[in-house]
Amino acid sequence: MCSDKSTNALVINCSPVRNGATAEIVHIVSEQLSERYAVRSICIDDFTFHFCTGCRTCHSTAKCVQQDDVDKMIAQYEWADIIISVSPSYWADIPGQFKAFIDRCTPWCNTHEPHAAISAGKKGYSIALRTGPSMKECDRVIESIEHFYGHLEIACCGRLGLCAVEHKDAVAQRKDAIIEFCSKI
Ligand SMILES: Cc1cc2nc3c(=O)[nH]c(=O)nc-3n(C[C@H](O)[C@H](O)[C@H](O)COP(=O)(O)O)c2cc1C
Repeated sequence: MCSDKSTNALVINCSPVRNGATAEIVHIVSEQLSERYAVRSICIDDFTFHFCTGCRTCHSTAKCVQQDDVDKMIAQYEWADIIISVSPSYWADIPGQFKAFIDRCTPWCNTHEPHAAISAGKKGYSIALRTGPSMKECDRVIESIEHFYGHLEIACCGRLGLCAVEHKDAVAQRKDAIIEFCSKI
């Protein structure tokens, strides 16, 4: 574990809801990590993204033809040494707003040359929450996040799934598990 406040941790609310259960978890994680790291928390809804149109121009230019907040969001990733994505399950996967951002990160995807790149050595953590009872669906949400981390060469370092969380008031009962997870970041 590192205790150097020159290490930057970015906590992302991948839900478009700014004051829901995901936001509550982001709050707890940020509070815990701010004892050891410089912390920024952001919400996917702070940014506006157009959809990827699948033109594949970026496969040969490493740049998107569209201009919006993708570069601003990537600047947050660049700032961070540690990234914690907190995502609810929406129809058994990440919310559409987060997926729209990921699709637009194709210029940074390491499967084509040339491609853009964020700095090496970043660590990624994933937290998924859902209303239903089965952890399998949390794993599916986390796999979407880790697939993205993998192609940006962010090391996948830890995951936490939280079932039976519909509203923010259900988060208090899970606080110990969240704190325990944070202690390993
Ligand atoms: C559009 C939508 C789709 C959802 N789909 C699922 C689902 O497939 N499975 C599930 O367990 N919960 C589902 N949920 C419930 C959320 O995962 C859960 O309420 C979560 O705590 C919401 O966090 P938020 O309010 O911060 O976005 C869905 C919620 C919404 C709004």
